[in-house]
Amino acid sequence: MNPHATALSAPRGSDGSVRSFAHDAIAGLTHHPKQLPPKYFYDSAGSELFEQITRLPEYYPTRTELGILRDQSAQIASIIPAHAVLVEFGAGAPTKARLLLTAREFAAYVPVDISGDFLNAQADGLRKDFPHLEIHPVTTDFTAPFLLPDQVRAMPKVGFFPGSTLGNFEPHEASRFLRGARDILGEGAHMLIGVDLEKKERRMYEAYNDAAGVTARFNLNILARVNRELGGNFDLSAFAHRAIYNRDRHRIEMYLVSKKPQTARLQGRSFFFRTGESIHTESSYKYSIDRFNALAKGSGWTPIAAWTDPEQMFSVHALVC
Ligand code: AVI
Repeated sequence: MNPHATALSAPRGSDGSVRSFAHDAIAGLTHHPKQLPPKYFYDSAGSELFEQITRLPEYYPTRTELGILRDQSAQIASIIPAHAVLVEFGAGAPTKARLLLTAREFAAYVPVDISGDFLNAQADGLRKDFPHLEIHPVTTDFTAPFLLPDQVRAMPKVGFFPGSTLGNFEPHEASRFLRGARDILGEGAHMLIGVDLEKKERRMYEAYNDAAGVTARFNLNILARVNRELGGNFDLSAFAHRAIYNRDRHRIEMYLVSKKPQTARLQGRSFFFRTGESIHTESSYKYSIDRFNALAKGSGWTPIAAWTDPEQMFSVHALVC
C-alpha cells in the first residue's frame, strides 16, 4: 500500500466494486481509442509495484517531494495555523504527513482513504509517536463529498494532497477535486499539494520507462487484474508497455500496445486488437507553477506559496480559501 496508490484505488472486496470494475473495463475497451481507468492499477500487486517504482533511480517525484518537505519544513510550518487538523486526502503510509506533524504541532490528523484496515493500522503506528495527537481516520472515497468527524469541526483545517496524485486527474477532474476539497474543509482552510513540474523530456520519459521494467510490470498488472478479478483472458505477453510525453497536453501518456492481431474476451464480450493498437491506461499531467496557480485560482483557492527543489523538478503548493 502507498500514499498515491490508495488515493486512486477503487473500493475492493464487495460485489459492487467488482461490478463497477467490470462496467468500467467494458466501457473503456469499447471506447475508441481503447482505455482503462488508472485507479484499477492498485490492487495489492499493483500497490506493491508502485511502491517499487517510488524507489527506482529514474522515478524522481517521491524522493524529491520528501526532500522539499524536509528542507522547507520551517517555511511550510510557518503558514500552518496553530492547533489545526491535518486532513490527508488519499492517505497511505503517513511518511510525508509525519514530516508535517513533526514540523508543526497539530491538534488532530484525519487520514482519508477507501482502505479502512490499512488506515487503522497506520493510525496505531502514529499514535505511539504522537501521543497528544487526536487521530480520526475516515474510510471513504476522498474524490466524493464527505463530512469531517465532529471532533475536528471547530479546528482550523489544513488539507494535504501529496505525491502529484492530482496529476493523474484530467484537468476538469483536478478542478472538481479542488472545489470539493474546499467544500469539505470550509472557508479559511489551507491546502498543501504536491505537484510534479514539467521539465526536460528525457528526465520525464525515463521516469516512466525505467531500465528494470518495473513500470512495464505495473502497467501490465491492470490486464492481469482484469484476468484475475473479471475472468478475462488477456495474453499479457502479447502487449507491450509504452510511455511517451505529450508536450502539447503537458502529460505522460501510458499505453499497452498490442503486439499482434488478437481477440481478448471478458464477461462474454470480445475485444479485437489490431497490431499496434493500444489501450490508454494513464495520464500523468506535469504543471508549471503558473499553470498550477491558474488551476487553483479557477477552483476557488488563492495560492500563497510554492516550494521547489534546487533542480525545480517538483513543487509543493500552499493554498488558502
Ligand atoms: C500515482 N501517480 C502520481 C504516479 C505518476 O507518476 O503519475 C503513478 C505512476 N505511473 C507510472 N509510474 C508512476
